[in-house]
Amino acid sequence: MTLRTLDSLGDLAGKTVVVRCDFNVPLADGVITDDGRIRASLPTLQRLLAAGAAVVAISHLGRPEGTPEARFSLAPVAKRLGELLDAPVAFASDTVGPDATARRASLAPGQVLVLENLRFDPRETSKAEDDRREFAALLTAGADAFVSDGFGVVHRKQASVFEAAQLVPSAAGLLVSAETAVLHRLTTDTARPYTVVLGGSKVSDKLGVIEHLLPRVDRLLIGGGMLFTFLKAQGYAIGGSLCEVDQLDTARRYLADAESRGVEIVLPTDVIVASKFGADAETAIAPIDEIETTVIGPNGLGLDIGPETAKRFAELVASSKTVFWNGPMGVFELAPFAGGTRAVAEALTKVDGLGVVGGGDSAAAVRALGFDERAFGHISTGGGASLEFLEGKALPGLEVLGW
Ligand code: 3PG
Repeated sequence: MTLRTLDSLGDLAGKTVVVRCDFNVPLADGVITDDGRIRASLPTLQRLLAAGAAVVAISHLGRPEGTPEARFSLAPVAKRLGELLDAPVAFASDTVGPDATARRASLAPGQVLVLENLRFDPRETSKAEDDRREFAALLTAGADAFVSDGFGVVHRKQASVFEAAQLVPSAAGLLVSAETAVLHRLTTDTARPYTVVLGGSKVSDKLGVIEHLLPRVDRLLIGGGMLFTFLKAQGYAIGGSLCEVDQLDTARRYLADAESRGVEIVLPTDVIVASKFGADAETAIAPIDEIETTVIGPNGLGLDIGPETAKRFAELVASSKTVFWNGPMGVFELAPFAGGTRAVAEALTKVDGLGVVGGGDSAAAVRALGFDERAFGHISTGGGASLEFLEGKALPGLEVLGW
């Protein structure tokens, strides 16, 4: 299992290279709120430019359904990329239409062109292989090579991820290579104790990874909105907190399974309860058997793990040799509910071993909370992709590169 590397593409001077990036960044009113994924694309782009290639960078943003939508335009990304590269970056207002065609024709070695959002064309995500192949052929027309560097999207069988890699000489970019190597380490010779921390709102998003990792880890720490489904499954009253009723039996099964395997599923002992979803909410710290009896009343919303839990989680993380963390512990975007996420992030910077932040939300959280990215072993740019990798699934975008 080795990916084809950039070196396999040979001398790229004067060649045109199409690079699939994952520029799917969060935007608020057209302003990029976290440019981590754009920065993660720089090493590959800089290397190709230094080699004298002309670079056509392609990506999706959000989930438009096959037609252009201004709010999903990649124009702000092209602008930010130009700032980060400190070089002019051209932008085509379409993907395979007249503007892209004209701009590609005049693109010189050492220059970058970003095409508009790939998902503005229905063929990008089409279920029909012929449609995808047709679109991929247009995207790679006239190109000498294709580089896959959008790690966040390698789990998708889409034209720019899968078919494009089959039409011209292709290789993994530096980001895809680095991400794959680190995540592979998490599935093979892991140093013990191995702790996985899962958060985020839904148990249903994490089923595969819990199932796959339970037999492999020493401790599974559960926070985020999904913790309340686990608490409810154990019979606790959870007020107005999030609960996936259809996952209660699954949560019970995981708890029983973990016990029989000797894996510790660590659930919170206290949570932060709020009167409403807002930074100005009234809040209280509640032991888990008192969630409905705080001053907030019976309908309080649990929006973060409590301080006692945060301390315990931090101790368990910091004393591990291998840690994978996916999903915020609470609503970290609102200051009163950021404590749990901050505590886990802080502890992860202290791991003497491999500490990996996986997933778009957790990666955005550590940056939003002001942590220095270099303090972490690895911050993955892939949310769904890193989870599916750890679930042991075959990822089309990696398989097509030789993995
Ligand atoms: C992500 O944000 O996880 C990737 O960019 C993939 O996006 P998608 O889930 O819309 O395919």
